[in-house]
Amino acid sequence: MKQINVKPKANSYTIYIGSKINIVNIIQKINRELSLGNKAILITNFTLRHLHRDALNKLAVLRPEVIALPDSERIKSFRYCMKLIKVISKFDYKNKIFLIGWGGGVIGDLTGFTAAIYRRGISYIQVPTTLLAQVDASIGGKTAVDIEKGKNLVGTFWQPRSVIIDTTFLNTLPVHQIKEGLSEVLKYALISQKSLLRYLETNHAKVFAKSTKTMEKIVYECARIKAGIVTKDEKEDLGIRTILNFGHTFAHAIEAASSYKISHGKAVALGIIAALRLSELETGLNPEITKRIQALMEKLKLPLRLKRDRKFWKRVEKHMRFDKKFIHNTTRFVLLEALEKPVIKEKISISAIRRSLEFIKP
Ligand SMILES: NC(=O)c1ccc[n+]([C@@H]2O[C@H](COP(=O)([O-])OP(=O)(O)OC[C@H]3O[C@@H](n4cnc5c(N)ncnc54)[C@H](O)[C@@H]3O)[C@@H](O)[C@H]2O)c1
Ligand SMILES: [Zn+2]
Repeated sequence: MKQINVKPKANSYTIYIGSKINIVNIIQKINRELSLGNKAILITNFTLRHLHRDALNKLAVLRPEVIALPDSERIKSFRYCMKLIKVISKFDYKNKIFLIGWGGGVIGDLTGFTAAIYRRGISYIQVPTTLLAQVDASIGGKTAVDIEKGKNLVGTFWQPRSVIIDTTFLNTLPVHQIKEGLSEVLKYALISQKSLLRYLETNHAKVFAKSTKTMEKIVYECARIKAGIVTKDEKEDLGIRTILNFGHTFAHAIEAASSYKISHGKAVALGIIAALRLSELETGLNPEITKRIQALMEKLKLPLRLKRDRKFWKRVEKHMRFDKKFIHNTTRFVLLEALEKPVIKEKISISAIRRSLEFIKP
């Protein structure tokens, strides 16, 4: 088992990563060290409760209250947060409560948000079970629920007391969900680690075979990159964390223009290609790098192009203006000067944005 320390100013915590790790032992150890509480409330969904019954049963020694919710992004809402709070408050009598979020990013975000606001903040542990949650959502303390106006619009930073990652959960994850995580993996490789890029080029087949060694290596490297970045910029106010948005300004606009029918992972894959093209135009990135990434994305079965009508692309342009990175009337883009060399650029012309979007049309 490997360990990574995340050290934001106020609360440092450890990420444990391995396969077939003893989650119970780790939780007990953390609880002894950090006095999280004497009543664990474990939040998961019906799918995971069914697929990973054995793993959940092993937690019985902790005597947790298990709450299984429907399997849907819809639970990332005030309604379900209130439902959780009702249960939590019921146990919050002569007990010190702590939460365990056992699932993908949806469960993780809802658990973190609920932990953040109940009693102005209680302890929680993340046990991420999707590739996306293991490499991204569980690390960094961003918590949120969705509202009608948009996703993740209500939330706060609230760091978990620990993140426990068992990559064997990924054995039951469908291929399309693996691909959701791979776009983020590729993003990390581009902004921060050339060697991970080479590793993916050599080992892409092992990813789809879910080789234990390969998944562990990939999750560890990405978690290390994200931990390093959030340690330096806990609340996204120093601009360092911004580089994690590489490919995301285009991606958010593509998702929104499709009324969220195109998944985040697919949109990020397309966004990465558009951002590489924009980098060629704005920072002089070598076009050979774009070609190399396109070749790798084919091997990772990620989309390179998107067939849509003119109206759709107009909507994409419109949404790019409303992206949260559109500050002081100028859209901020994370671009690459070279591999591992992200830069933040403002005042990008609409014609350069259009030329980049052209690149992902068939
Ligand atoms: N907090 C952050 O920093 C952050 C970062 C990125 C994304 N997010 C959020 O994360 C969410 C997306 O996360 P996600 O992609 O994990 O989606 P998800 O939580 O909906 O999980 C995807 C699907 O996989 C299933 N699943 C989970 N683990 C499984 C397993 N081991 N085997 C089989 N099926 C499994 C889930 O039940 C679900 O159907 C979004 O709400 C997004 O906003 C948050
Ligand atoms: Zn993302």
